[in-house]
Amino acid sequence: MNRNVTAAAVVVALVLGGAPEVLAQDSSDMCVECHRALDSEPLAGPVGHFEADIHAAAGFGCVDCHGGDASIAGPGGMDPALGFIGAPRGEEVIAVCGRCHSDGEFMRQFNPSLRVDQVAEYWTSRHGQRLAAAGDTAVATCADCHAPHGIRPASDPKSTVYPPTVASTCGRCHDDAARMGPYDIPVDQHENYARSVHHEALVEGGDHSAPTCNDCHGNHGAAPPGLSWVGNVCGQCHAVMAEQYGESRHAQTFAALGMPGCATCHSNHEIREAGDSLLGLGDGAVCTTCHSDSDRGGSAAMAMRAGIDSLVSEIEAAAIVLHEAEQAGMEVSAAQSDLTDSRSALIMGRAAMHSFSPDAVTEALAPGREIARTSLEEGQSALQDLRVRRMGLIASVAVILILILALVLKVRQIESGPADSPGRA
Ligand code: HEC
Ligand code: HEC
Ligand code: HEC
Ligand code: HEC
Ligand code: HEC
Ligand code: HEC
Ligand code: HEC
Ligand code: HEC
Ligand code: HEC
Repeated sequence: MNRNVTAAAVVVALVLGGAPEVLAQDSSDMCVECHRALDSEPLAGPVGHFEADIHAAAGFGCVDCHGGDASIAGPGGMDPALGFIGAPRGEEVIAVCGRCHSDGEFMRQFNPSLRVDQVAEYWTSRHGQRLAAAGDTAVATCADCHAPHGIRPASDPKSTVYPPTVASTCGRCHDDAARMGPYDIPVDQHENYARSVHHEALVEGGDHSAPTCNDCHGNHGAAPPGLSWVGNVCGQCHAVMAEQYGESRHAQTFAALGMPGCATCHSNHEIREAGDSLLGLGDGAVCTTCHSDSDRGGSAAMAMRAGIDSLVSEIEAAAIVLHEAEQAGMEVSAAQSDLTDSRSALIMGRAAMHSFSPDAVTEALAPGREIARTSLEEGQSALQDLRVRRMGLIASVAVILILILALVLKVRQIESGPADSPGRA
């Protein structure tokens, strides 16, 4: 029997009537009418919340998940003989949601682009495995991540699975030491993630290309399809680093030692902005954990860092000279824009560092060093031109001054000339 057709699922499918059908909600829904008036938040709350639920918008009602008969005004509508299942728990929830969401033909009538593999994926996740193996209802089911009665698509900012909100949704359990205690799993993922460059980009910067929990762990599965291990997921976004790293000595060695790939150096949840200080054997360098200046890894670390540092200072020196020339009114905009390309080479060099081969870094930096050198020369020659022009200006000013002086002397001479001339007194 298929994994997703468990005993509970069979019961739910039987009582709810197997394949789903579209049951139009008429205005006299007695479930709604009676529950709205009940003096209890757990009993009346669902009615109010459900008004904004995507399922209400699609025309579904209480009975589509709970069963029963909505046309009966009294509590008799909740008779199990009429298919009423009460509030589903554990595996029943998976069966209730999966009745529609695993039925591709049914779902296509509403939204042809919606995936229909959530249940299948769910059973591959740790949550699903634990629920199936031990009937453990402390794990997440569909209804824990998608607040039932208030279900909205992930694109809706009010959804519990809206990307900036996902970390809090997972955190409801994963931050809770009492809940996670029996599993011996730390409860610091959300806290650490909240300090990461990814959180900053996503939540503060509104950059939805930055990951939250489900981007690395999968929405419904343990890891996205095709990936054997969640640590490999970094490369889906950081492709260049992953490619370089994949071919490096570290990739094999770390895998053999059971080290978590990228996360060995960057951590998994608290990933901070990377800087040159991570590289080398100085304070804050990650390489010092395993290498020293007496091994090949250590000397490679220092060589790569020295190459990157040189380019950084060469770019800086060229930028200062070009700035000086620009301030003095010289035309150096072409050289300044060239210098941007040498900054790209710096980025390529930092990425190439992930091959952990000093030659690859030297090669990636080379075009940048060449540009920095020519930019510096252009800046220096602009300043040289400026000096020449200034010398020319000084020389012409001096000539003019001498001429003026000569003129003044001449005028005086002419003025005083006749007084001395004979016959005037
Ligand atoms: C006349 C009022 C009335 C009607 C009509 C009614 N309910 Fe209820 N319902 C209640 C009350 C009262 C309770 C709490 C007492 C109990 O569990 O029987 C309840 C409980 C429930 C529960 C919680 C059960 C649990 O296991 O915790 C669900 C779910 C529910 N109703 C759904 C429905 C659905 C679906 C319909 C329509 C088919 C419906 N109700 C019709 C009054 C009503
Ligand atoms: C999309 C499926 C779905 C629909 C539609 C739905 N419910 Fe529920 N409902 C659930 C699930 C799942 C639970 C179990 C909640 C949980 O485990 O947190 C639940 C729980 C409940 C409970 C018990 C709440 C508690 O805290 O014990 C009540 C009462 C209830 N629903 C009433 C309703 C009413 C009334 C409607 C119609 C307005 C409705 N539901 C529509 C899925 C649904
Ligand atoms: C009676 C069939 C049915 C049941 C039962 C059902 N759904 Fe749905 N659900 C749908 C349909 C149809 C849509 C698409 C509506 C649309 O796009 O207009 C949908 C949409 C959704 C969406 C939004 C998808 C998106 O991103 O657009 C989520 C999330 C969802 N359902 C979760 C659940 C969960 C969780 C349960 C169980 C608690 C559940 N559904 C039970 C039929 C059902
Ligand atoms: C551990 C939390 C979690 C559980 C458990 C979970 N979901 Fe989801 N689900 C998500 C997240 C997060 C997204 C949003 C993905 C995104 O950003 O596009 C999502 C998206 C969806 C969607 C939109 C389409 C898609 O696949 O992206 C549907 C439909 C859905 N879930 C149904 C279900 C059903 C049915 C179950 C139970 C079998 C379930 N979910 C269990 C977290 C969960
Ligand atoms: C309803 C509570 C609950 C929610 C919500 C929840 N989880 Fe869990 N999760 C658990 C429990 C309990 C376990 C322990 C299961 C086990 O180890 O057998 C677990 C286990 C895990 C594990 C496996 C840990 C390990 O290595 O043993 C991962 C990964 C995980 N959850 C990620 C998530 C993500 C990501 C989300 C949000 C999208 C989420 N969880 C939402 C309760 C929850
Ligand atoms: C950038 C990717 C990424 C993000 C974002 C992420 N994780 Fe993880 N997570 C990992 C990696 C990598 C591991 C280590 C897996 C291993 O060692 O097998 C891990 C491990 C875990 C574990 C196992 C216990 C542990 O701490 O080692 C849990 C539980 C977990 N993550 C939950 C979460 C939750 C909850 C969030 C959101 C608050 C989240 N993760 C965000 C990549 C990520
Ligand atoms: C869903 C895409 C995605 C995934 C998956 C992802 N990242 Fe990122 N990462 C980003 C984005 C977007 C940024 C922010 C870039 C920026 O600074 O603007 C970022 C930033 C970073 C930075 C900081 C870069 C800098 O400029 O200093 C590091 C380091 C990093 N990620 C490492 C990782 C690691 C390690 C993993 C896997 C555990 C991972 N990322 C998974 C998208 C992703
Ligand atoms: C052995 C340690 C180590 C491993 C493994 C590692 N990195 Fe790095 N990573 C570094 C160091 C050191 C830097 C800083 C380089 C610099 O700025 O000079 C860095 C920088 C980065 C940056 C920022 C680059 C930039 O432009 O500033 C990203 C993004 C990144 N790494 C992602 C990854 C990904 C993805 C993986 C796995 C495929 C990975 N790293 C594996 C050590 C490592
Ligand atoms: C978690 C431990 C660890 C960290 C951190 C680490 N390495 Fe390594 N490194 C190793 C191991 C183990 C080897 C493999 C030695 C072997 O196979 O002989 C290795 C090999 C290397 C090699 C190949 C040496 C050779 O024999 O050709 C280079 C280069 C290297 N590392 C550079 C670095 C740099 C640069 C950093 C910092 C960005 C770094 N490593 C961080 C453990 C580490």
